[in-house]
This record gives sequence, C-alpha cells and structure tokens, in this order.
Amino acid sequence: MTTANRTFDVERPIGVAVLGMGNVGTEVVRILRDHADDLHSRVGAPVVLRGVAVRNLDKDRGLPADLVTTDAEALVAREDVDIVVEVIGGIDPPRALILAALNAGKSVVTANKALLADYTGELAEAAERSRADLYFEAAVAGAIPVVRPLMQSLAGDRVDRVIGIVNGTTNFILSAMDETGANYSEMLAEATRLGYAEADPTADVEGFDAAAKAAILASLAFHTRVTAADVYREGISKVTADDLAIASALGCTVKLLALCERVTDPEGKERISVRVYPALVQREHPLATVNGAFNAVVVEAANAGRLMFYGQGAGGAPTASAVMGDLVMASRNKFYGGRGPGESTYAKLPIAPMGDTPTRYLVNLHVADRPGVLSGVAAEFASRDVSISTVRQEGAGDGARLLVLTHLATDSALTETVAALSELDFVIAVNSVLRLEGTEE
Ligand code: HSE
Repeated sequence: MTTANRTFDVERPIGVAVLGMGNVGTEVVRILRDHADDLHSRVGAPVVLRGVAVRNLDKDRGLPADLVTTDAEALVAREDVDIVVEVIGGIDPPRALILAALNAGKSVVTANKALLADYTGELAEAAERSRADLYFEAAVAGAIPVVRPLMQSLAGDRVDRVIGIVNGTTNFILSAMDETGANYSEMLAEATRLGYAEADPTADVEGFDAAAKAAILASLAFHTRVTAADVYREGISKVTADDLAIASALGCTVKLLALCERVTDPEGKERISVRVYPALVQREHPLATVNGAFNAVVVEAANAGRLMFYGQGAGGAPTASAVMGDLVMASRNKFYGGRGPGESTYAKLPIAPMGDTPTRYLVNLHVADRPGVLSGVAAEFASRDVSISTVRQEGAGDGARLLVLTHLATDSALTETVAALSELDFVIAVNSVLRLEGTEE
C-alpha cells in the first residue's frame, strides 16, 4: 500500500521532511519536536521529523546529526517521508523539490509566495494528478489565517473585493514616516537597522512581495488563475514626507495596498483587477489603523459583508504557526485518507488592464499663481471626462500648490490628464500623484 492511500494505519507515523532551516524552518522544527504529543493527539498518529535539509552542515542547529542533510532531493524521496515542508524560499531549488514530492504523492506545505505566484498552475496540477495536498497558508500575511478562509470558510459566498496590507517592511516604513515626518530613506535605514528590511530591500519596497501575495489572494477569491505578471505594481520608494503630510491634512494616511476586485468592462462583462501601489487611505478606514510591521486583509463578500483579518505578517514563529496549521491538516488527510480542496479556477475571469480600472487620483501640482490657471487645470480633467471632487490651493513660493482630488475615473483617463497637465506652461511641476482607495465616489 502506498503512503498516499494509507488510512488508519496507526502503526506507522506521518513522516515529515523540512527543507530549509532559516527563521521559519527553525521554528517549525522546534514546534514539531516540543509539541510532538499534542500533534499526535490532534492528528491521530505520531508526526515525526525525518530530516531537515540545509545548505551548510557546519552550523550547530541543536539537532542530532542524522537528522540534518544537504541532500534535499534524497530527503524528499525517502519512503518514510509523507509530507514535505518547504521553507527555503525562491524559485530554484524549491520548484523541482516540490514537484518531485507532489509527483510522488507526498503532500507539500510551503511558505513560498514567489514560487506560487509564478508557477501556481504547474504545482496545482501536479498536486491534482497525484491527489496530494498543496497547502500555503504561510505564503500570504504570515500568521494571519486568510488562505483557508478564502478557500474554505467563504467557499459558499461570493467575494467581491480583497484589500490588504500584506508587506510588513513597507508598512513599517510608511507608518514611521506618518508618525515622525521623516523621509523615505531615513525610515528605510531604520527598518534595515531593526531587521525588518533585508540588505537588498527591492522585493519589499518595490512591491514585488506584495504583488506575489496579491496574485495568490486574487486566485483564491475569484476562482481564477492569477500570476504575478497579471498584477499591476508600484512600490513605495517614491513616496515623500510631503505626500504623508498632505495625506494627513486630508484626513488620510498612505499605505501600500494589495487590491483584488471584481470590475466590469465597458460591455458590462465581469473582469478582475489586481494591483499593488501606495495609496491614500482615509483615517477611519480599518486599514489605516494597521501600523508598524503588522499586516491586515479586508475581505468583502456578498453575504458575509466586510471581514478583517489582522496580525503578524512575518517572523519565524508567526509564520511557523501558519505552516504548522497546514501540516496538521495535511497529516490528518494522510491519516484518514482523502485530501483538502485543490486549486479552483473554474471562473477563468479575464484580468482588466490597469488603464480600465476605476480609481481616484490626488494630483499635487506646483503652478503659476495667475488668472486662468485653475480653469486651465480644470479643463484638462473635464476634457477627459474626469470629475473633480475637491481642489485646495495654497501659496508655494513664487506660485501656488494645487491639490486636485478626483472622483472615480479610469486609470488611463487619469494618466492622460496628468501627462497633459505636465505640458501646460503654467504648471511648474507635477509634484506627485497618489491614488485614493477605500471610498466609492
Ligand atoms: N518581507 C515580507 C514583509 C515578509 O516585509 O512582510 C515575507 O513575505
């Protein structure tokens, strides 16, 4: 009998291989070893660590030598390994190792958002073929349960929108800019000093990490396969102290948002928009209160209404908590037989181009202060069918600063308007453009 088909064989424990022993892997191994009795009771069979794959054998990891190996491939292939936990990160070698595990009927638990966002189809199809579980709660927002709620708890509802703060590093930087008035590079340096930002912060600050998570959330929410390439992305490296000060004056703050929404095309057909960018959020919006390195995800569903999930989105122990939840589920499925829900892509909704997506802009202009400027600016908005919500003007050196907040319009109409404004002789500079999210007008 193969492990994939085994049910109620109480004689044989569930064998687990852990690939990677960084912050998360170390915590997973600790929990597996320290809480073996509880895990046994929760699963119905012992859950036993068969081995840990690492890059470097020289480091003392406080584990018996026979549990540690550099040969991840051989560990995955072992007969007594039923479930593979991948916490190495990156595309290679995790992709090949996960595929080898799934193809052999072993279940996989991974925290690897970049891999899932780029290769979700390949991995999901391998899991489907071998009837294995592929679980990834830890890939989005660390400890926060959001994958399982979207996949299972809300399986009978219709999700219309998911908006999240899913990157702790950028949320730390933006929150600190908001609180202190400091600029981006000072707060990036602080995030690096405190260990939030990595030596190369590009994946976080340019929104790649959040875009991978947005792709995963959108796939689950809309039953459509979404990859990282489908996600429109802007990072936070151009957000200035001035942007935060203006946001504050307008009763807002700035957050890097991952937005996944159902939208309609000009013929009224349904599409989805998936995007990541820094946006103004009104202080009374639940996401505005999420500060520091915390994450939060707001889900809006037709019947459930608005739900908010909040907590620690990174870190060894919080991420390991999500991995362990998946590991217990996968172990139970191995023990009792069967598998959890696999990928659901039946809806196959098209991805809306960013240009068609309805958003609101706050355009910050430095203009000459003379008659006709305001009407000239307003004419550019009007000629592209963009309706203005509010205009604020204040003196700025030899000219004036104009803050124009629009109602909802397509992103292409707004982009064209800004391009046209920058060509006007009385526009000295387009200081910044930020979108406003979380309101409908
Ligand atoms: N680097 C991520 C963050 C955590 O800052 O939230 C892992 O996805």
